[in-house]
Amino acid sequence: MPNNAESALIERDIAHLIHPLHNRKAHAGGKVWVGGEGAFLIDANGERFIDGLSGLWNNTAGNGRRELIDAGAKQLASLAYASSYAGSSNPRAIELGERLAAIAYPDINRFFFTSGGGEATDSSIKMARYYWKLKGKPDKTKVISRVWGYHGVTLAAMSATGIDAYWAMFEPRVPGFIHIPTPYPYRYQAAPGTVSQGVAAADELEKVILAAGPDTIAMFIAEPVQGAGGVIVPQDDYFPRIREICDRYDVLLVADEVITGFGRTGTMFGLEHWNVAPDIIQFAKAITSGYFPLGGIGISDEIADVMEDSGTPFMHAYTYSAHPTGCAIACAMLDVIEADDFPGQAAVKGKRLLDGLKDALGGHPNVGDIRGLGMMCAVEYVEDRAAKTAFDAAQGIGTKIHAATMERGMFSRVRGDVYCLAPPIVTDEDTIDRIVEIMADATRAVLG
Ligand SMILES: Cc1ncc(COP(=O)(O)O)c(C=O)c1O
Repeated sequence: MPNNAESALIERDIAHLIHPLHNRKAHAGGKVWVGGEGAFLIDANGERFIDGLSGLWNNTAGNGRRELIDAGAKQLASLAYASSYAGSSNPRAIELGERLAAIAYPDINRFFFTSGGGEATDSSIKMARYYWKLKGKPDKTKVISRVWGYHGVTLAAMSATGIDAYWAMFEPRVPGFIHIPTPYPYRYQAAPGTVSQGVAAADELEKVILAAGPDTIAMFIAEPVQGAGGVIVPQDDYFPRIREICDRYDVLLVADEVITGFGRTGTMFGLEHWNVAPDIIQFAKAITSGYFPLGGIGISDEIADVMEDSGTPFMHAYTYSAHPTGCAIACAMLDVIEADDFPGQAAVKGKRLLDGLKDALGGHPNVGDIRGLGMMCAVEYVEDRAAKTAFDAAQGIGTKIHAATMERGMFSRVRGDVYCLAPPIVTDEDTIDRIVEIMADATRAVLG
């Protein structure tokens, strides 16, 4: 490791910190970020990198956004914190609830706030179980989710997450969680039949509901576009069929919009692409553009009515639920999203990015798939394009390509050999074109 400002900080860091997804031996050469300007991150040596994943898919407005900084500072000065337990409230949380009701799916008008996405998953699961108990169906407790789904890593959220690397060292998982295959258009292969691949993939849900017994299933949770699992965009007929199946068997449909919410895919929320409305929505990340840890869930009027009529408290709580400072920043962020038309920008800029990647890399023999929706894209590298054979994991192709993109001034994340891209929505056109050039150069450098 070169002797420089960053390596000195890393030495101090590894003496005391345990990072998420971390092992000292594997990550001795980490990064220390000291600054951010719009769509760029600056490391401790003063080097600039394109923020290819908007932090962790969250910082859609980029760094240094004055409105968000001012909203946070103003709120900290007047009321930094107050409890929201048992009916206590604050004006910024009230405003945020009203504003979310105005932009979320029409039937979703009541909100519970958390500190992030994993807590939002736990909150959905507990809300679904609470609802079914109030409805006199206490056995409806099971949760169905999908392979490659990512819903966070608290013990319950981890059990919903469908990526086994997150389970291995923490088994046993919470009982009552079932995974179905992902629709993954590049790889999902239903047995030949009369229905489309999207319908066949959705019908996997019906099969497990029937096998487990509809009276035992509380909810099905899905990201409109699977993010951390490798930016998997479903077939157009997938979610409409999922909605039908959930309705048929009285299963709540939970949309995990922690990444797809607030414009990322080119619509305000992801399921709008397919005219499908969920019973519960989860959000986090871009609601504050990462300027404050805030997430939550929104519930349908039906669930809210049952809750209200029951008089039974929802005994679920976080100290930082409806944190006034987080809510103030979220309200300011909604102003930015609306004034700057983030969904519209993501649609146009995301198309430029996806088209650019297809032009630059579409013919490469080791590029199997280039996919995306709005400002969320991925490039999947394979050893044999015709057979879609993956590289041997020991070759670490994805990691090598990521290292090559860092040498060229971009930082992002890979899932195996899938390179994920979700730059800030504020990224300008020249920078988007530069991302494409970096991906093409890095691909050639690693794979020829
Ligand atoms: C779809 C989705 N749900 C939940 C989570 C978990 O959020 P957090 O890391 O804030 O707990 C994430 C994080 O990436 C996510 O992408």
